[in-house]
Amino acid sequence: MKGEAGRPLLAGKTLALLFEKPSLRTKVSFDMAMYQLGGHSIYLSPEEVGLGKREPVADVAKVLSRYADGITARTFSHETLRTLAAHSSVPVINALSDLEHPCQALSDLLTIYEKKGKLAGLTLAYIGDGNNVANSLLLAACLLGINFRLAAPKGYTVSEEVLDHGRRFADSSRSQLQLTDDPHEAARAADIMYTDVWTSMGQETEAQKRRLAFSGYQVDDKLLSLAKGDALFMHPLPAHPGEEISAGLLDDPRSVVFDQAENRLHLQKALLARLLADS
Ligand code: NVA
Repeated sequence: MKGEAGRPLLAGKTLALLFEKPSLRTKVSFDMAMYQLGGHSIYLSPEEVGLGKREPVADVAKVLSRYADGITARTFSHETLRTLAAHSSVPVINALSDLEHPCQALSDLLTIYEKKGKLAGLTLAYIGDGNNVANSLLLAACLLGINFRLAAPKGYTVSEEVLDHGRRFADSSRSQLQLTDDPHEAARAADIMYTDVWTSMGQETEAQKRRLAFSGYQVDDKLLSLAKGDALFMHPLPAHPGEEISAGLLDDPRSVVFDQAENRLHLQKALLARLLADS
């Protein structure tokens, strides 16, 4: 998908983009992906739909299934996505919920593969909040044989449920899954250094408390210098320099954050073709 000029694999197909939260990369890359594959997308803002307020989630899923060939949804609660999927007759793609951000993880794997030429055997150190991005990345890494280290303060690590899945995946791919509250321990000799915001969308009232809890977890030059000399720095964006990363890090030679952002488009084209194209 990245190499080739768009084939109209999705001519005549329509994707509904149903968003409860703000979005730059996800919204634009899904819209462009449909356009480049010869299809069409319709963006539905939170105000327009009133998911679960103006209209029950199940009814929205049933109605959109009569018009669109697929639904891409970004929701606060993962339960909303499950309800959409349960009542929809067309594929529902998770465009981020409080539990997971799988399209980001898939695109990140593409970026890592392009830069490192392999996945299995690499070590990824995730520094910061055990949030939706961390959950998806942990599961994807453990499935594919990437060693995953998570450094989070106590009370902010990933859930036991996600860990259980991760451990099972890691056992079968022979990768290592390690949790710590020490960012230095996680960073040592890592191939990839990854972080995300300390306060995710929907947690804004906790921002001050989180700034305190995560002080000492900033990814800066000193922490990066513990990783391998050719380590990559990754972040799903948007970033907050001065909080989870030091100023200027996005433009550091080790940073691949804008490649990650670009790869959202290519990866999602592959995903949409897989899910929506006529066989
Ligand atoms: N963890 C962040 C990711 C944004 C792409 C959030 O949910 O706000």
